Amino acid sequence: MNILLLGSGGREHAIAYKIAQSAQCSQLFIAPGNAGTEKVGENVKLDINDFEAVGQFAISHRVEMLVVGPEAPLVAGIADYFAEQPMLKNIMVIGPSKQGAMLEGSKDYAKAFMQRHNIPTASYRTFTVDTLAQGEKFLETLKAPYVLKADGLAAGKGVLIENDLATAKAHLHEMLKDRKFGDASARVVIEEYLDGIEMSVFVLTDGSHYLILPSAKDYKRIGEGDTGLNTGGMGSISPVPFADKALMKKIEDRIVKPTVRGLRDEKIAYCGFIFIGLMCSNVGTDDATPYVIEYNVRMGDPETESVFPRIKSDIVELFENAAHGNLDGCKLEIDPRTAACVMMVAGGYPESYKKGDLIDLGTDDETLVFHCGTARNELGKLVTNGGRVLCTTALANSLPEALLKSYNRSLDINWEGKYCRRDIGQDLLKLMQG
Ligand code: AMP
Ligand code: GLY
Repeated sequence: MNILLLGSGGREHAIAYKIAQSAQCSQLFIAPGNAGTEKVGENVKLDINDFEAVGQFAISHRVEMLVVGPEAPLVAGIADYFAEQPMLKNIMVIGPSKQGAMLEGSKDYAKAFMQRHNIPTASYRTFTVDTLAQGEKFLETLKAPYVLKADGLAAGKGVLIENDLATAKAHLHEMLKDRKFGDASARVVIEEYLDGIEMSVFVLTDGSHYLILPSAKDYKRIGEGDTGLNTGGMGSISPVPFADKALMKKIEDRIVKPTVRGLRDEKIAYCGFIFIGLMCSNVGTDDATPYVIEYNVRMGDPETESVFPRIKSDIVELFENAAHGNLDGCKLEIDPRTAACVMMVAGGYPESYKKGDLIDLGTDDETLVFHCGTARNELGKLVTNGGRVLCTTALANSLPEALLKSYNRSLDINWEGKYCRRDIGQDLLKLMQG
C-alpha cells in the first residue's frame, strides 16, 4: 500500500525507516521529510497543517494510510478531517481525533481526564486571568518548587518550575495577564511538584486495546549533568534499566489500562500513539511508584530513535490492525538489546544557531544515523537545517556497549560548531551500580 507520513524530524526518519522495512509498504511518501527520509521514501513538499493539500495529495497518490508524526496537525483535527471527507474516509489514519489530541493540546483537559479515571498524577488547579488572585493564594498553600504550566501547546517551553514564591507569582501574572505564551497561557495549571526519576512509556492503541512499546528515557537539557536550557532532546536510552517487571506492571495497571479504558468509555476516537511522561518515585525499591506528568499524542523525539529500532514486528501490520480495532490479536516482538541514541546539534542551539553548514557524515557502520534537521543545498550537498541535526543510534547487549558504539559513530560526524552531550546514559549507569 501507499503510505504518507507527516513530519520532518528524527522521529519521522526513524518511523520511515521502520515503515520502509515492511513488505506491506509499496510506496512511502514523507511530507516534508528531510535529507534522511529521502533515502527510505519520497519526500514531498506539503504544508502538513493544510489539510486540504494533504487530502488532495492522498487522493492523487492513492494513499491508503496516513501516519502523523507531530502533534500540531492532530491537535488541529487532521484525523477528523480525513474521517469526514467522502474521498478520504477510507484512508487509515494513525493519530487520534481532535478530542483525543486534547490530551496533549490542553493540560487542564488531560489533568481532568486523569482525575476522572483515577490515574495517579500531581494534584492541581487551573486558573484564568479572572481567577488570578485565587491562583496566587493557591501557590501560597504549596511547598516549593512551584510548577506552572501553560494549558495549551507552547513548543515545549510552557512549563516553569520555580523555587521562589514571589517569582512564581510573577510568572503567573506574566502567563495569564501578559500572555507570556500567547493563547496557550490563557489558562495555567498549577500543580504539586513531584520528586523522582523521569521515564517515558509509549502505547499504540486502537481506542480499546493496546500494545506497550519499549520504555525510554530522554535527556532534555542542553548541558551535561542536566544543566542549562531545555531542548527538544539531546539523546535517549531504551529500555529504561530501572523499569523492571514490577514497575512496568504498576504502570500498566494503574496508568495504561485506565487511560485506554477512559478513552473507550468516553467514546473518544483514538487510533495512534500515547506517549506517557512519567515521574517515578522510590525507584530501585519495592515502593517504586509511577505518576503521570503529561500525555503526548504522538511518539517522542528523540525517544522514537531508540524505541523504533528495537521493534522487530512489522510496524505497518500493527498500524493496520490498530486502524481496524484489532490490536488485541497482535503481538509485539522486541529486540532485547539496549539502544542508545546520541543527538548532535548546531552550535548555539537551543538559542540562535546557523543553518546551511556542510556536514561530513564520516564512515558508515552498523550504527544507525537518523536525520533530524538536514537538507540538501543547491549543489546537492548535505547541510544542517535545524537545531537538532543528526543522531546516532546503536544497539548492543549492554548499555555501556551501546553508548560506546553510538558515541564512536557520532565522533566521526562533523560540521562547524557541532555539539553533543557526552553524558547520555551516565545517570542510569550510576543508578544501576547503586
Ligand atoms: P511537561 O511539558 O509537562 O512534560 O513538563 C516539562 C518538564 O517539567 C517535565 O519533563 C518535568 O521534568 C518537569 N515537570 C513537569 N511537571 C512536573 C511536576 N509536577 N513535578 C516535577 N517536575 C515536573
Ligand atoms: N522528547 C520529548 C518529546 O518528544 O516531547
